[in-house]
Amino acid sequence: MALFSRRKSVVGLDIGSSSVKAVELSRSGQSLSITAMGTATIETPEAVGAAIQEALREAGIRTRRCVSAVSGRSVIIRQVPMVKMAQSELKQAVEYEADKYIPFDVSEVQLDAQPLGDQGSDEGQMRVLLVAAKRSLIEEHVALLQSVGLHPLAVDVDVFALGNAFELRNLALGIDDQEVRTLVDIGASKTNINIMRGNTSCFQREIYVAGNDLTEAVAKRFGEDPRDVEKMKLDPGGALESMQDAMLPVLEDIGSEIRLSFDYFENQYDQTVKEVYLSGGTASFPGVDTMLTQVFGLPARLWDPTEGLLMGRQELAGLGGSNSGLAVAMGLASRIRSV
Ligand SMILES: Nc1ncnc2c1ncn2[C@@H]1O[C@H](COP(=O)(O)OP(=O)(O)OP(=O)(O)O)[C@@H](O)[C@H]1O
Ligand SMILES: [Mg+2]
Repeated sequence: MALFSRRKSVVGLDIGSSSVKAVELSRSGQSLSITAMGTATIETPEAVGAAIQEALREAGIRTRRCVSAVSGRSVIIRQVPMVKMAQSELKQAVEYEADKYIPFDVSEVQLDAQPLGDQGSDEGQMRVLLVAAKRSLIEEHVALLQSVGLHPLAVDVDVFALGNAFELRNLALGIDDQEVRTLVDIGASKTNINIMRGNTSCFQREIYVAGNDLTEAVAKRFGEDPRDVEKMKLDPGGALESMQDAMLPVLEDIGSEIRLSFDYFENQYDQTVKEVYLSGGTASFPGVDTMLTQVFGLPARLWDPTEGLLMGRQELAGLGGSNSGLAVAMGLASRIRSV
């Protein structure tokens, strides 16, 4: 019994390779609201801590409790077949078999395993989602957060946070169906793919082609310094069409990699992907949605992870833009539902 209900807050902190995104979610009973949002550019790899502090300051966040994520090549996500067994036995069995699937020494990784739905697996077998991250990566990450005075509640993985953000948005909008939608988050150094059926994540992948490669392609075409192209991307003016033209081949590369994931999913689940939901900084470059719609032959559109949620402070509603760059941060903060 609670005699009074205290508001709890958590910061979702998405520390990307180019920028830090922070979203504070607050919960009072069952009611969730967004109480702060902020971003900051990471100027140099040494300045990540400073960028975290700047994003928190810009947003006016005082909560120290945060959830953030690791990602990249030191994080392995695999769907592996295993003999059916109880959840209690799973962890040990996975530890025993993990070296078949992980290219690192198993003693150096933190493992997590979850049984997936039975669809697509044979009799007596189940598919298990295996996540392994190098322990040193997690330790460095936690040390970074603590060095700026934060208390990490959990360390997640970008691509799962993306799915959690989508689930939260579906809950907020009352969307409750089993349609297949693909989430594609295009950042600076990587593109995250999460194929969702309703609110269930069915397939996850990271591709190391993204905004930096678009920048390179434009820089090459124009004979410009990539740092100047980064500025042009924010205000293309009359150069828009030729920039898009230079970007198209890279988007086609990203698209054909993503198509491979569609093919795999469609074979496994006997269901087709209908729509693509775009997020991440690169997705907001004008025309990226239209170009990807052409590349996929499927509607690809930006989505807003704050849609349907209460804005706990009035000025947040007026921030403008689609907030689609905040998808991962929103998904991280959505952990507040279970604290
Ligand atoms: N408004 C914008 N218009 C066009 N491009 C943008 C805009 N904002 C950011 N970008 C581009 O998006 C990329 C950064 O996106 P984002 O912040 O999602 O990446 P990140 O999370 O830091 O990187 P990663 O997830 O790959 O580690 C950069 O390439 C940048 O040029
Ligand atoms: Mg990112």
